[in-house]
Amino acid sequence: MMLEISRQRKCSVLCPSLPDLDALLADWVPLLCRGDAVALTGPLGAGKTTLVQRLAQALGVPAAASTVTSPTFALMNDYQTQSGLGIVHVDLYRLDDGTGQIPESEPVLMELEEIIAARQHLVLVEWADLAPAAWQGYWQWYVQLDYGNDGDDNVSDGSDGSDGSDGKDPSEVRQVTLLCQKEGPRP
Ligand SMILES: Nc1ncnc2c1ncn2[C@@H]1O[C@H](COP(=O)(O)OP(=O)(O)OP(=O)(O)O)[C@@H](O)[C@H]1O
Ligand SMILES: [Mg+2]
Repeated sequence: MMLEISRQRKCSVLCPSLPDLDALLADWVPLLCRGDAVALTGPLGAGKTTLVQRLAQALGVPAAASTVTSPTFALMNDYQTQSGLGIVHVDLYRLDDGTGQIPESEPVLMELEEIIAARQHLVLVEWADLAPAAWQGYWQWYVQLDYGNDGDDNVSDGSDGSDGSDGKDPSEVRQVTLLCQKEGPRP
């Protein structure tokens, strides 16, 4: 597939399998730069960590399949590609106190803000939509992952009890939407 992201600024692709996701990532990788901050959003189990893991693999992080794991408990992991690009992988999920928005004074957010401002890493943040509203302009890329329609009208409405804590079928087709905001304001 050829990504038209730089021209269209937005593309949305169905990724029914991991090879489909890899094909999307192969087109995206050349557009990513050191210093980019990437917001990853989408419901539980939609594929945020998987995307980071496959992206790390595509960027040349050694043994990414085993070393790139969910930072839900660590909050922040970092990796290094063979060519020296540092990747910071953050998961804000655990910082949600139930209000759906993390306070600006949260120390992890302050640390993250410094990392983004320094522009020395590629920063990927799961559950970025939990960051305070003022963070909207921090991201140069928005990646929205969701469960998509695979075209056979067989999409779960979450009420069939097929499983997952939010009622989603884990085998359901994923839809990945990429939105580029290269000229966005910086922290
Ligand atoms: N494009 C895809 N095609 C098929 N399966 C996928 C795809 N993306 C992710 N998966 C599978 O979905 C499951 C959940 O993925 P993952 O843990 O990456 O979700 P997540 O969004 O990070 O979840 P959480 O909200 O808990 O952080 C994994 O088993 C993964 O292999
Ligand atoms: Mg995850």
